[in-house]
Amino acid sequence: MFVVVGVTGGIAAYKTVQLVRTLVTNGHEVHVVPTVDALRFVGTATWEAVSRNPVTTSVHEDVAQVRHVALGTSADLVIVAPATAHTLARMAAGLADDLLGVTLLATTAPVVVAPAMHTAMWEHAATQQNLHTLRERGVHVVGPADGPLTGGDSGPGRMVEPDEIAAAALAVVARGDAAGGVSGKARHDLAGLSVAVSTGGTREPIDPVRFLGNRSSGRQGAALAQAAADRGADVTLVAAHVDDGVLTEASRHPRVAVVRVSTAAELQSAMTDAAATADVVAMVAAVADYRVAAIAPGKLRKEDGIPRLELVENPDILAGLVAGRRPGQLLVGFAAETAADDAELVERGRRKRARKGVDLLAVNRVSWDEGFETTENRVVLLDAHDEVVADAAGTKCDVADAVWDAVVALGSPVR
Ligand code: C5P
Repeated sequence: MFVVVGVTGGIAAYKTVQLVRTLVTNGHEVHVVPTVDALRFVGTATWEAVSRNPVTTSVHEDVAQVRHVALGTSADLVIVAPATAHTLARMAAGLADDLLGVTLLATTAPVVVAPAMHTAMWEHAATQQNLHTLRERGVHVVGPADGPLTGGDSGPGRMVEPDEIAAAALAVVARGDAAGGVSGKARHDLAGLSVAVSTGGTREPIDPVRFLGNRSSGRQGAALAQAAADRGADVTLVAAHVDDGVLTEASRHPRVAVVRVSTAAELQSAMTDAAATADVVAMVAAVADYRVAAIAPGKLRKEDGIPRLELVENPDILAGLVAGRRPGQLLVGFAAETAADDAELVERGRRKRARKGVDLLAVNRVSWDEGFETTENRVVLLDAHDEVVADAAGTKCDVADAVWDAVVALGSPVR
């Protein structure tokens, strides 16, 4: 495959050397297009050595070969890693003042960007707006990851690891997704649909300061809402205890309305309202199965002895939504399961799908270090005939897209 790797001016550029090596080792023809700023971090000689191809940054070099058009039109895939906030802004505006800018406008190949910047820059409205614009045009965004940043602080903004970028980018090509280039057309296969998504984890109060809760971060549901909106749907995202940072992107999407809730009862009421007009309902939230029978009006104190909590069962919200579904409405459940192996995972999933009566169940394996609080996920999708219709792995955005692909494949009610 002919891969163009755009490199822009961030310290993570040194990691892109590994990305290029991986692609070359896997037999791809790689052409690196650094910006002038990127060359301050990693020089031309390194890029030429790892890619085994000449490297230019300006449209005025190699003019006889019309390199700026040739690179864009020859590419089967364009990856921009790291993609700085400035680069995302340039891409959103369609600026073409260097070879990378021109290549990005000339290509019809899928474009994958791996953002890397400080958390404050990532969360800035300008950056988020630019990302919306790019996503709407079909550009695929991988990361950023959450973790320590160059300045010594921590948060979302780290470029995801090179092998992950390579895997995500190759998966985009394998899926044959729409281009982010000249045509700038994203899939709008959910246009006109109304979608309700729940995410996060409910909290059931014990007393004014304590609660029963769970480890759900809300990332997968936020990604699902974001992906649905990018694909044209109008989305209500009901979020139970999700950090602002996790919701930043989705909440700034013009087609996403966020409703914040806390307890299972509040989530049920918000989802029942949203489901009344929704074509597709996806229950991604981790709902507490039990709540405390009598919430203590004052703080429970040690001197009063070890408390005995009486629990009562919460309603199964999803089962209720299935029972009261509108004609043609499609219901998607998520099941987090611990399982010894894939066979057990699928078996548990089948039993749960039948119990819940959903059209699609995404079963994901969880453990102390899988599923929760991570940016990666893997789900097995079961349809109403208990067939495994997809086995999706990657970032939570990739998994979200796989879920919507499966919804679209089910046909009704998708127009
Ligand atoms: O039974 P389990 O909790 O594993 O089922 C998971 C699915 O059911 C998820 O889609 C979750 O949102 C939903 N659920 C619910 N109400 C509950 C418990 C789970 O809607 N009380």
